[in-house]
Order: sequence, then structure tokens, then C-alpha cells
Amino acid sequence: METRANMQQIVSHCKNYGFLFPGSEIYDGIANVWDYGPLGVELKNNIKQFWWKKFVWENENSHGLDAAILMNPKVWEASGHLSGFTDPMVDCKECKARLRIDELIEQHSKGKANPDLMTKEEMQNYLIEHKVACPICGKHNFTPIRDFNLLFATKRGVTEDNSSTIYLRPETCQGEYVNFLNVQRSMRQKLPFGIGQIGKAFRNEITPGNFIFRTIEFEQMEYQWFCHEKDAQKAYEYFKERSKDFFVGMGIPESQLKFHDHDKLVFYAKAACDVYYNFPIGWKELNGIHNRSNYDLTQHQKFSGKKQEYIDPTTNEKFVPNVIENSYGADRAVLAILCEALRYEQLPDGETREVMHFAPHIAPVKAAVLPLIKKVHAEKAHQVFKMLSCSFKTVYDETGTIGKRYRRQDAIGTPFCITIDENTLTNNTVTIRDRDSMKQEIINLDELLDYITKRVK
Ligand code: GAP
Repeated sequence: METRANMQQIVSHCKNYGFLFPGSEIYDGIANVWDYGPLGVELKNNIKQFWWKKFVWENENSHGLDAAILMNPKVWEASGHLSGFTDPMVDCKECKARLRIDELIEQHSKGKANPDLMTKEEMQNYLIEHKVACPICGKHNFTPIRDFNLLFATKRGVTEDNSSTIYLRPETCQGEYVNFLNVQRSMRQKLPFGIGQIGKAFRNEITPGNFIFRTIEFEQMEYQWFCHEKDAQKAYEYFKERSKDFFVGMGIPESQLKFHDHDKLVFYAKAACDVYYNFPIGWKELNGIHNRSNYDLTQHQKFSGKKQEYIDPTTNEKFVPNVIENSYGADRAVLAILCEALRYEQLPDGETREVMHFAPHIAPVKAAVLPLIKKVHAEKAHQVFKMLSCSFKTVYDETGTIGKRYRRQDAIGTPFCITIDENTLTNNTVTIRDRDSMKQEIINLDELLDYITKRVK
């Protein structure tokens, strides 16, 4: 029998085993900022690499990009972020908590009322009619609804007088839009084609929280598919499927995913879908796929005064391409993988095994090299570590009983433990233990690298 971990257990496991630490902890932290530790950074890199492979490499017409975080402020005028990147909020007059009104309504109605379908006035009325209480102090005394802009602003310039306001990007995709023609021309690329990039984004969220689910600094993996309008809807459907492939390919069962098509679309959008994962805190958004028409490039054409058109070399048709946006949160993907991986298993001897069932290609550490007796087998074990660590993340552990060392590797999800013993010195064989089945196999040392490489692909 095995049980799933709750969010508190996941947070504490992540801290104890070096996945994630509270940001600036020795200064009592900074709310909702997290630092990736030695195992967290390996895990996140593996997820990002897998995404890059799926989106940027496995398509003949795809290219990568790494645009700057700081962009000309006009970008944010064109994208609508300066005027419209807001969340509706109220302040509790009693305890001064700042709250998102849509979340208040969702929580109060237990998901029955849909604030997405309400006007601001309707949301305000809902609070009054249902006497919604503040979740912090329990009182019902709110300010009128206000829009709160989520953009992080900063100043550039040497002196205060001639400094100008610039913004930390709230999403990475604008870098892909403004470079659409640069990529198309430099890569001599015909439509349709895609641009992918991974990078940091920043939002002054009103209600961050739930560990790394909603933070003010996070990482996005975004992929824009540029195409003719007539091909856009088919591409949108294709990318919904691709999204499923991506998560299932990382070990998330399909039953833990839900596709939610938007009822209400912004005026320019043709279709939109959010993918939800069954987190221990409930079904929550992992990523979104949107058919955005040619709105984004048209806006940039208007605000920059530079044509964003493509001329079809066969038909000579000139047009502003449509965009299918694929927007993934790297940290949410990490959180989903952590939630899916950590299990408490009841063993026949009554003991509980803490184990992370990462898919081998996502696991932060692929192999652990364990000398059975330190004094006798350490030298050979160091050689084996050296040989494996050129190809993948390997750890060396010589402290404690072999059973305890196996358990430590189970708790961080290492798929293979390699024991170096007397047979290694005399017969050139090693014992390889599988994390999931806990079965042991003896193989020739010369085959070890190949064996693990095949299993982690
Ligand atoms: N370019 C479109 C866009 O940014 P979004 O739904 O606002 O769309 C896309 O964000 C994804 O980025 C989300 O599905 C989520 O995975 C991630 N994300 C957004 N805000 C986040 C936050 N505050 N903390 C962590 N991840 C976030």
C-alpha cells in the first residue's frame, strides 16, 4: 500500500533533501520566494531540457530563443500589460489583508460560482449579498473593488531626474513576438514555424502561495506557433495533444490531468484551454494553450510602426500571421512532478519507505555508487563514479549501512544504486538495485554505463 504526500509533507521533504529552500532564509526569508537546492536545480533542468527537446528539437520548423528580460516599455503598451494586466482586488478594512475577489468568490461558493463570467459590479454584489467573510480575520468589511496591476516596475538611468520606468517582464512570449521576423529571416523559415524559449518572469501577485505554485518570480517555458489563419485551429488542437504527451512523457498519468476549455474568451481569441493537474490542494492550472488570432503581431505592428507581415513565397499573399500560444510554467511542472513522485510505501516488514518515483529521465540523480565496505571498496567505487558522472548526475555515498544508503537514495528518487563489493574486485561485476521494484541484478561493470544510459533515455 502507498499513500500520497500532502503539500506540507512535500514542502518539508523538499527542504530536508535539498530540492527547495525558502529564499533568503537566514534573514527570515522573503515571502513566496524559493531557492532551488542541489537536487531541485537538477530536477528543474531535466524538465526544461525535456520540454526543449519536445518543442524546439522534435519539430523541423522550430527554433529556440533567449530574449532579454528587460524590454522597451512600449512592448508592454502594445501587449496591454500596462493598462490591463490587473487582478480585481479588495482590501479587508479590519485586518488589512489584500485579497483577490475572484478567489474569494470561488472559495466561498466552493467552485459553484464562476467569477470569470461576472462583471466587476456582479463580483462586488456577490460579496455583499452572500456576506462573504475575510479568510484571514473572518469579518465582512471590504473596500470597494479595485484593479491591481501586477507589473514589477524598476528605474533605469544614472540619476533620478532622467531615469525612466522599465518593467521586469511578466511573461516570456513577448520576446518571441518581437523577434518573429528576425527568426523567420535569419533561419530562412517558411510558415508555419515555432519559436520556443525558457526564462524568468515576474508578477507582483496579490495572493501568491501554495509553495511554488504561485510566486512573484517564476520561470516560463513558452512556445509560439506562427501560422496562416486557415491552419490555426487545427494547430491549436494539435498542441493540446502535445501538452498531454509532454506531461505523460514525464510520468504524470493521464487520469491526473484535465483539459478545461474557456467559456469566456477575450475579444481577439478564437479558442483557449487550460490544462489542470490534480495537486494535493485540488485541481489547478498547469499550463495554457491559446489560439490568439493575429492580435499579438498586429499590436506590435501598430505600436512599433514596423510591418510584421509574412509574404507567402508560393502565393505571394501578404499577411500578419496567427499565433498559437503554448504557455507552460516550469515551477508548476516541477511541483506537479514532486506531487506525483513522493509516496509513502508500507513494506511487508511494517516499515514505511519514503520514495520518489521520478521517471528515470527526469530524476535529479540517475545513479548512486555505494562501496559495500569503505576501506576495501572505496577506490574502485570512486573509479566507477568517475566513469558514470561524465554521462549523467551520479552521487557517491560511503556512509552508513547499505540498507540506510538505499533508503536515502529512494527518498531522493535515484532510480539505480550500484554496489561495489568483493565481486567487483575479483569478477568485475556490480550489483544494481532498482528503486521501484527493489530487485537486485548482477551485471558486468563493462556493461554498466550502457545499461543505465538505455534505462534513463
Ligand atoms: N503568455 C501567457 C501567459 O503568461 P499565464 O496563464 O498568465 O499565460 C502561463 O501563465 C503559465 O505560467 C501558467 O499556466 C503557470 O504555469 C505559469 N505561471 C503564471 N503565473 C505564475 C506565478 N505567479 N507563479 C508560478 N507560475 C506561474
